[in-house]
Amino acid sequence: MLELFPEGFEEVDRPEGVELAAYTDAGGEERLWHFFGGARGDDVPEGWEDRWRAFHQPVRVGSLWIGPPWETPPDDALAVVVDPGRAFGTGSHATTQLCLQFLQELDPGSLLDVGCGSGVLSIAAARLGFGPVVGVDIEEPSIEATRENARANGVEVEARLVASDDPLPPAATAVANISLDSVEALPGRLDVHVLVTSGYLASEQPRLAGFRHAGRRTLGGWASDLYERT
Ligand SMILES: C[S@@+](CC[C@H](N)C(=O)[O-])C[C@H]1O[C@@H](n2cnc3c(N)ncnc32)[C@H](O)[C@@H]1O
Repeated sequence: MLELFPEGFEEVDRPEGVELAAYTDAGGEERLWHFFGGARGDDVPEGWEDRWRAFHQPVRVGSLWIGPPWETPPDDALAVVVDPGRAFGTGSHATTQLCLQFLQELDPGSLLDVGCGSGVLSIAAARLGFGPVVGVDIEEPSIEATRENARANGVEVEARLVASDDPLPPAATAVANISLDSVEALPGRLDVHVLVTSGYLASEQPRLAGFRHAGRRTLGGWASDLYERT
């Protein structure tokens, strides 16, 4: 879907599973059939562009404001503008917000963002005074999105494509909003003092060899944890 609709698509929770919906024309519907072997088409009322926009609301997390390019940030906020639909990370997901809360409480220094997606955490960290900031991801579209969003925000972020078992660049602090399994595989690849993790449910907690658990936050059934190197 990202390849077909890089400008974005909707994920709708249905009882039978997740439905992916793209707002498109007949050509787009043909491409869906071609790729997926089937698709359901519904006519949408005029003004669907506004519906798409209404779906992407800005969020405020402490001093940070994260929003799409067509919204105006308040004067008192550190603005992080993210073009939605390019890669995961509009700021609206609870796990992203929990990481942003922790980042605002940490001493700014060098930062590694593991699973940078749209670059939202990297850009926010740069805004908060962290530097140098390196974002890594296993997906090329995330690297491109992070570079473009960093450029659009006027901040320095280096984005690198990595394999999921590569050693990672050293930093004082790392943030990793990825799955529980991927978080638990990090210690052997990481050279950091402080680690913020998320991407899993509040009922779960990663076990990380060589790190001491130093804090936890939850939001909407999701969790984020703070670890310090022992
Ligand atoms: C849930 S998104 C988080 C995006 C963004 N950091 C945020 O907080 O909104 C997870 C991202 O991590 C990437 N990813 C998943 N496993 C990874 C791994 N082992 N190493 C690096 N990136 C990974 C995915 O491609 C995806 O872009």
